[in-house]
Amino acid sequence: MEYLEQIKFSADFIQSKIMESPKYGIILGTGLGGLVDEVDVELEIDYEEIPHFPVSTVEFHKGKLIFGKLGDKSVVVMKGRFHFYEGYTMKEVTFPVRVMKLLGIEKLFISNAAGALNSDYGKSDLMILDDHINLQTENPLVGKNLDELGDRFPDMSQPYDFSLIDRGLKISKSFDTKVHRGVYVGVNGPNLETRAEYKFLRIIGADAVGMSTVPENIVARQMGVPVFAVSVLTDVCYGEIEKVSIEDILKAAAKAEPDMTKLIKELIIQDL
Ligand code: HPA
Repeated sequence: MEYLEQIKFSADFIQSKIMESPKYGIILGTGLGGLVDEVDVELEIDYEEIPHFPVSTVEFHKGKLIFGKLGDKSVVVMKGRFHFYEGYTMKEVTFPVRVMKLLGIEKLFISNAAGALNSDYGKSDLMILDDHINLQTENPLVGKNLDELGDRFPDMSQPYDFSLIDRGLKISKSFDTKVHRGVYVGVNGPNLETRAEYKFLRIIGADAVGMSTVPENIVARQMGVPVFAVSVLTDVCYGEIEKVSIEDILKAAAKAEPDMTKLIKELIIQDL
């Protein structure tokens, strides 16, 4: 079956199970699943059950789509996302974003864990994405264009929605956590960067580095979906570079997670 047909088939399958179309899509990053506890859950569907959906690797989680309400807003949450470094193609990584759009989402919210390149940023701070640099080696839009879903050469002048960013910054003023606005650079991973690579990434203008979010953003923007994304800064990648482990990353993510959760929740609940 062709890619577009697969997307439609998946969406139709899900549509037949849900009561209401979600208006907000949410993709939660590694160790950042807490927002799920805030959702009044109506239905959960394991990725495994959904035709053509990529299936998550055993590494962290059994992936599922969660449908429900945040306040009076209907949302779909991806618990568990697909990374390029896991071996998925970019078409697989972004398949769920296509499906969420067909289900009716009007805005997409993304969280991720990232390393801080900007020396004004500290561990367990948050960074709202203002822009990104794509250094990943595959692009989800390569190949025959799905004209029905978006342009061949999509505009990327506002990859992250300025009004959502402004509202996000306002909401986060009351937080104890420091919240920055900066540029995310997406890399393949899965190894962390060398000291020389961190230096390079700083020089080209990035404030934080991570291994996700960019492909999902590109596909959402191609379909005209406004995106808000936030990084939890889990390690600092300037000065004396310290050895980091996944345990350290998860620990730093856990510290900032409550405020990150509040940020996305408030943005959605207060959205008009
Ligand atoms: N580099 C790339 N990805 C990351 C990092 C990093 O330092 N920290 C968390 N995700």
